[in-house]
Amino acid sequence: MKGLGAGMAIIGCGSATPSQVMTNKDLSQLVDTSDEWIRTRTGISKRHLASEDVSLSDLSAQAAAAAIKMAGLTPADIDLIILATSTADDLFGSAAKVQELLEASQAVAFDLTAACSGFVFALVTAAQFIRTGTYQRVVVIGADMLSRWVDWSDRSSCILFGDGAGAVVCQGIADHDHLLGFEMHSDGKQHDSLNLSYQGKAKTLKEGMVISQGSYQPITMNGREVYRFAVAKVPEVIEKALFRADLTTDDIDWLILHQANQRIIEAVASRLKIPAEKVIANLDEYGNTSAASIPIALDEAVREGKIQPGDIIASSGFGAGLTWGAAIFRWGN
Ligand code: ACO
Repeated sequence: MKGLGAGMAIIGCGSATPSQVMTNKDLSQLVDTSDEWIRTRTGISKRHLASEDVSLSDLSAQAAAAAIKMAGLTPADIDLIILATSTADDLFGSAAKVQELLEASQAVAFDLTAACSGFVFALVTAAQFIRTGTYQRVVVIGADMLSRWVDWSDRSSCILFGDGAGAVVCQGIADHDHLLGFEMHSDGKQHDSLNLSYQGKAKTLKEGMVISQGSYQPITMNGREVYRFAVAKVPEVIEKALFRADLTTDDIDWLILHQANQRIIEAVASRLKIPAEKVIANLDEYGNTSAASIPIALDEAVREGKIQPGDIIASSGFGAGLTWGAAIFRWGN
């Protein structure tokens, strides 16, 4: 469908998290850790983990359906679905399955992989289609189930992650653009800091022809490196995105960072001189849900009535790749 080609508004949000809850105390039965260590080092108390009969596509469709309803639209109105995930049900992509579950019969759908930066990268991608007038109504979903890939014997990483999905609906508008500014970066030199990588074994198909066959291996992470990277790069990328938006930190109503660690969130807010009351955080309840963390936090704050139409939100995702990015946007029509 041809759009208006000017700008976009973010007019609906939704989220879905699994009902199973793993507390810090539960984790201390699994690995040598304690509730006190996890809470003081990360701010996390629990995480929601999908049971074996829940798929990433299910959670994504639930979040998207709630966002479409809030936007006052029906699935048949949607032109494009972008699913940001690193844990698709199918390596060929899960977005088309989400399209089917939603019955979004007019939509084209594809996956986008950028780990915990996935939601911000997908939101910016949606804006390009809307600004060019190619598509008018786009659903952006951030969803991950890292519980599938966590090494549950590694106490330095298994304490961090939870499962979930969050979504927004973006719509083309004629006279202004509510994506006020953005900035995105990658640095493959630090790729080894955080991986969920393929490992293969040699397989001979015929004499002189050897290929690799294998599977993905559990997450490995250099926590200190990722921590240092986040605290250095996130304030910088937010400032660049604000510069592009012709705004300053004083103009921000809310800061929603990727929910990786409470200490990272506080360090970034303090570096940007953003007061604690403007910072939205929910990792106490959900841990790090990767691409889902920003839209879940946004959805909760909107439904609680904290975030009001017209509010300016600074969001920033960061993680494996390494990748990082920021999007400054105005909530609502
Ligand atoms: N319980 C108890 N002790 C622990 C645990 C645990 N769960 N994990 C590590 N320790 C120990 C270590 O063994 C170490 O002991 P030692 O001093 O005897 O060697 C000590 O605690 C300190 O370890 P550090 O790794 O220095 O702990 P740190 O304060 O850095 O916290 C953490 C670790 C929480 C992982 C932190 O580095 C962090 O949050 N990093 C960022 C990670 C992140 O955000 N990753 C996701 C990015 S998003 C994505 O793309 C998926």
